Amino acid sequence: MAASPSPDLGALIRGHRANGPLQREFYTEPAVFTADMERIFRRRWLFAGPACTIPNPGDWLTWSLGNDSIVVLRDERGAIQAFHNVCRHRGSRLCTSETGHSGRLVCPYHAWTYGLDGKLLINTEKEFGIDRAQLSLHKLPTRDLAGLIFVCFNDEAPDFGPVERDVIHRLKPHGLDRAKVAHTIDYVVPANWKIIFENNRECYHCPPNHKEYNVATYDVARDMAKLDPRKQAELDARVAECNARFRALGLDEGDAQSMMTGEYWRAHRTPLMTGFTTQSMDGKPVAPLMGDFKERDVGTLRLTIFPNFWQHAGDDYACATRITPVSASESHVRVMWLVHKDAVEGKDYTLDRLLPIWKLTSEQDWKICTDQQIGVSSSHYIPGPYSTLREQNVNHFVEWYLGELRGPQPLRKTG
Ligand code: FES
Ligand SMILES: [Fe+2]
Repeated sequence: MAASPSPDLGALIRGHRANGPLQREFYTEPAVFTADMERIFRRRWLFAGPACTIPNPGDWLTWSLGNDSIVVLRDERGAIQAFHNVCRHRGSRLCTSETGHSGRLVCPYHAWTYGLDGKLLINTEKEFGIDRAQLSLHKLPTRDLAGLIFVCFNDEAPDFGPVERDVIHRLKPHGLDRAKVAHTIDYVVPANWKIIFENNRECYHCPPNHKEYNVATYDVARDMAKLDPRKQAELDARVAECNARFRALGLDEGDAQSMMTGEYWRAHRTPLMTGFTTQSMDGKPVAPLMGDFKERDVGTLRLTIFPNFWQHAGDDYACATRITPVSASESHVRVMWLVHKDAVEGKDYTLDRLLPIWKLTSEQDWKICTDQQIGVSSSHYIPGPYSTLREQNVNHFVEWYLGELRGPQPLRKTG
């Protein structure tokens, strides 16, 4: 059977009907996936992992996007650096596991050795006829966002300054730079990365899907209030009470809409519902206080950075999610739980109390996303309308996405 022709990306973008989901090809076509990688994932800042994974000089972690493996390490000065995990001799991978520690990066093939600054240490002048200074590892732009490592696969990285200015002071009190990863779960989700992110942008699906999450969470109450003005007074009172508390603690405040700053990232602290000091099954703390906090009940700081990261941070733990697109219909998702670095499992916290809310909620989401991917792949999928009340953040994501695809450079036809 002849392969079907690649779609015309420009025509697909022009054919998008405003205020509704994308057409099928955006979720299924390899050519669109390639465009997503080139125009978004290879241009934007991406979350690679928590900085506390590599607390000491010589610690490193690896991460792969498509065929590109990178190594992110802490150098001798304690700064975070990222390099392509490719030897400058004949291209072997240098670091072959997910994490490790070494004073030098030694290639497993012929033992070319690099410093933690990426510089080649062996002398190549005589035997190879080239100055070793020309054989340093290829570096990636890197930022440490108050304990979260971001990298950019493009040397011409976009300005991260606005994100840093707005996020760092909000995130710092949570002490992610003084944390440890208590637990990690890796998921292979058979869904396009956009389906996963779109699902994250709304809580319309929460009432029928997230029994456990709903009880603690502001979003469901907020959505109810949009439909029932009588609920608004109740919610306003709770928001005012929580915001006063946040102010008294010297924290930022803000409801779900007030911190929308910039087109591709967002940070906002929301209240938890009465009786919940943290996002746990029973509302009670699940780990010791983190960061600068001296008392409980600081709401949850939500941080979203398109295209591959979101996090919820409370006073006792943070739950971070990293998306790694693999193909048009598959994504790897890593969910990480961070607690204070000195907290001891079994004594200060237990996984059976720490994990459930976000483990259940995440897995419920992956199931929804899997079903949606199957549905949108059908020949009978026709994009329906978005709610004007409860899906406007999804619409925002889709508009952002199409803008990214149009990109600063002229569209290259894929067909
Ligand atoms: S490929 Fe690395 S030393 Fe030869
Ligand atoms: Fe969800």
